[in-house]
Amino acid sequence: MAVVAIVGGQWGDEGKGKVIDLLAEKARMVARFSGGDNAGHTVINPYGEFKLHLVPSGIFSPQVTCIIGNGVVINPASLLKEIDDLQNHGVDTSHLVISDRAHLIMPYHTLLDGLEEERRKQKALGTTRRGIGPAFSDKVARLGIRAGDLLNKDIFLSHLKSALEFKNAILTKVYQVSPLSLEEIYEQYCHYGERLAPFIRETSSIIHEALIKEWLILLEGAQGTLLDPDFGTYPYVTSSSPLAGAGAIGTGISPMAIDRVLGVFKAYITRVGGGPMPTELKDEVGKLIREKAHEYGATTGRPRRCGWFDAVAGRFSSQVNGFSDIALTHLDIYDSFSSIKICTAYEFNGRTLNYFPSDSSILGKCQPIYEELPGWQESTAEIRDFGKLPPQARRYMARLEELLSCRISLVSIGPRREQMIQVRSIL
Ligand code: IMO
Ligand code: MG
Repeated sequence: MAVVAIVGGQWGDEGKGKVIDLLAEKARMVARFSGGDNAGHTVINPYGEFKLHLVPSGIFSPQVTCIIGNGVVINPASLLKEIDDLQNHGVDTSHLVISDRAHLIMPYHTLLDGLEEERRKQKALGTTRRGIGPAFSDKVARLGIRAGDLLNKDIFLSHLKSALEFKNAILTKVYQVSPLSLEEIYEQYCHYGERLAPFIRETSSIIHEALIKEWLILLEGAQGTLLDPDFGTYPYVTSSSPLAGAGAIGTGISPMAIDRVLGVFKAYITRVGGGPMPTELKDEVGKLIREKAHEYGATTGRPRRCGWFDAVAGRFSSQVNGFSDIALTHLDIYDSFSSIKICTAYEFNGRTLNYFPSDSSILGKCQPIYEELPGWQESTAEIRDFGKLPPQARRYMARLEELLSCRISLVSIGPRREQMIQVRSIL
């Protein structure tokens, strides 16, 4: 079998959860490799409709070992809530495993995320305020607390004491807010630790065994390439890498073990939070996309900014990830459109740019150069064969393949599992 990394090609919310839920039917392992509960993966299947934030979208397939990898930051309260919610819907969660190396989101991380956003005023990044940035900062600053620490109360207390001493100094002296109580956090997290203990393991060896057995393993990405701290629209990015390369580091496997990289793209583009977005539509078309596709954040409920497909950004994303295949989602949103635009280049200061600029202030001033294609103006919701899609829809897909230099292997025409058409095999 093979290892397939599934990665967001845009600014997140591309439908990664839906793609993984479908592919997991054939897989034996799904491992999340980055992000935290800032992710919101909507999955609609026979168990119901779920918004998963931390639990891998393979949880609905009982034969799949679901791993929350070392590259993820975990808010234990959200994870436990998610596990309870799944169990209440009859979903078995006994095949979930949490890496002992995964860092924990602590109450001071969420508090500081909000305070830092307020300090930035008009320059706020529009984070999900889940404490993601502060938790990853502590990881690299060597101040973090890891899931495995919860298994030893003495070690946990000693790490918490030193971290909290420093955090309380910042809270009181920089932000002039009340300090947090060591006892309260200790008690609360010991309780979380007791509940999570059965799930916490050394996971790289579990994945290694699966590699030896040649299981089909899916590496589940969160967020999207354009939110990557290195290659995204810095500083309007998240704090861990959503790229395929991070799939190796965030789970503990060799980059050479990754056989396929599946990039997930929407047929249009969305963004939630601040930062440049050249193809954003602030008009009726943008509104139409938002309402048709219910483009409201799964984590924060914020309305998502909607726009035409940006193939300059898409090509860049394809390059930095090395996509072997693309899953194109939400094609049906265009069913009623008489014509559809694709951005193929930018105009900046009278010059044509064919690449994605690294400077967000430049990207913010780029005007999209569009190519217009005819729409199909018929419903695709019930189509199950690629060949039966309207010719204009196939032409739209062919043009995207050309612009991204990558084949589209999956296309979705609705939110349900059966509304995903396999154009060709990914493996
Ligand atoms: P999924 O996995 C879309 C965005 C936030 C903000 C920026 C930084 O569902 O695709 P953070 O809380 O990470 O520090 O916020 O990143 N963001 C996402 N946007 N989908 C996501 O996840 C996102 N996770 C974070 O809106 O602009
Ligand atoms: Mg989402």
